[in-house]
Amino acid sequence: MRVLLEAINISKTYPERTSPSIDDLSLTILKGESLVIIGSSGSGKTTLLKMLNGLVEPTSGSILIHGKDIKSYNISDLRRSFFGYVFQKVGLFPHMTIKDNIKIVLRLAKKPEKFCEEQVRELLDLIRLSPDLYLNRFPHELSGGEQQRVGVARALATDSECLLMDEPFGALDAVTRCELQDEILRLKKKLKKTIVFVTHDISEAFKIGDRIAVMQDGKLEQISSKEAICTAPETHFVEQLVQTGLGNVNFLDGFSGGIH
Ligand SMILES: Nc1ncnc2c1ncn2[C@@H]1O[C@H](COP(=O)(O)OP(=O)(O)OP(=O)(O)O)[C@@H](O)[C@H]1O
Ligand SMILES: [Mg+2]
Repeated sequence: MRVLLEAINISKTYPERTSPSIDDLSLTILKGESLVIIGSSGSGKTTLLKMLNGLVEPTSGSILIHGKDIKSYNISDLRRSFFGYVFQKVGLFPHMTIKDNIKIVLRLAKKPEKFCEEQVRELLDLIRLSPDLYLNRFPHELSGGEQQRVGVARALATDSECLLMDEPFGALDAVTRCELQDEILRLKKKLKKTIVFVTHDISEAFKIGDRIAVMQDGKLEQISSKEAICTAPETHFVEQLVQTGLGNVNFLDGFSGGIH
């Protein structure tokens, strides 16, 4: 598989912080893979995701997209057309209808009005919310899970090459969560996108990920196939995560999706 994104020795120390939130981290993301980033709260997952799409600038190191430094791109264009981003908190505009919440992304990408109208309907169909029922509702008239779906639809709106998803199913019950995980796997197969997916939940990581990156204190503990994470943990932290996190979940069930 071709390399899509590369982080080379990136570090980030936020202003007025003494310790780095990302500490000399390097990783490669392959075109078409789903890479899950897992780690404890505050380990730097959101910061890493935001550095990958230019929302946060590294203090040192570089990000390459298709082999070219991110600085050589127009960052707004990248965020509008190359990346789809699902924020940790869904972030729908409360005073806009569902239609307008999705349309705004398409308008920013300067798509023609007729195309926007059609595309919004298509996207709602894709995430299995009936356009006729949901187009004109406001976010507070949707359940948490439905709002999360709209967040995903919005990230898909611009036909981006790479989806960055920051704990997209964070606060959902197990059943809805499982449904949405299936939806992502279905979309991945159908749309062949590269997905970088952040989670706290190891069973979710094994379900969604082709490869898994484990983070702790701004560093990568290990990045490898899920099989290697389980059978050959490289650090004590990874070993503990697998032991305590998986409990009695049979993660090997997840291997049928293919390992890269
Ligand atoms: N804008 C900011 N200014 C200063 N410090 C920040 C900022 N954003 C994040 N941090 C700090 O950087 C560290 C990493 O934060 P980050 O949000 O990347 O963690 P995370 O792994 O996404 O955590 P969570 O799982 O809770 O979402 C934390 O110590 C956090 O307090
Ligand atoms: Mg976070």
